[in-house]
Amino acid sequence: MSFDRKIKIAPSILAADFANFGAECEAIEAQGADWVHVDVMDGHFVPNITFGPATCAAIRPHIKGVMDVHLMIAPVDPYIEAFARAGADVITAHVEAGPHTHRTLQAIRAAGAKAGLALNPGTPASEVEYYLDMVDLICVMTVNPGFGGQKFIHSQIAKVKQLRAMIGDRPIHIQIDGGVDPITAPLVAQAGADVLVAGSAVFKGGSVSNPAPYGDNIRTIRAAAEGVWA
Ligand code: DX5
Ligand code: ZN
Repeated sequence: MSFDRKIKIAPSILAADFANFGAECEAIEAQGADWVHVDVMDGHFVPNITFGPATCAAIRPHIKGVMDVHLMIAPVDPYIEAFARAGADVITAHVEAGPHTHRTLQAIRAAGAKAGLALNPGTPASEVEYYLDMVDLICVMTVNPGFGGQKFIHSQIAKVKQLRAMIGDRPIHIQIDGGVDPITAPLVAQAGADVLVAGSAVFKGGSVSNPAPYGDNIRTIRAAAEGVWA
């Protein structure tokens, strides 16, 4: 995984057909997705349950590029090895998931994955100050985690700007997760984000048997983020 700040579109398979994850991952990549975003929820840290390491391992052979695993679980540490073994390229944990985030980030890198740190909407940018030299990605939640299809929280744009200034020249991605669409994508891109997660806005109108709308949606979001309306 090489580092750059170009806009990357990361469709969240939370909005995919759960009975067809393998084919859905292949379809979004064929339609231009840069990363595949995988939302793991435990019904404890967030009020919804999705799936765990076994599902990640099962879909891994269907993903050519980056498998980006967003852990909305607490505790995190007992499961890091399993998600790394499942083939996650990026493992993102929440700063709110427990008191020992520093240890969690060390464990993610020790397991051979890139380390991501996610911030809930109510968590200030300053929380990442002492982690800046041990993270590869900071995920700004622009909805409250747990569900797809929620409304983008505009107050988070200021946080993205603050984080971009704090990061300076460090090779750290800023990821946006929640409510990204062609209207909100340019706002966060201008503020300094480079990885845009999008669930509903990518999968709407398409299916495994009709994947072309995925491509249209991805191109529209990318063009909006890059400042060129499609
Ligand atoms: C929310 C998840 C997101 C979600 C985004 O808890 O982390 O990745 O799937 O979905 P949309 O793009 O529909 O807001
Ligand atoms: Zn996510």
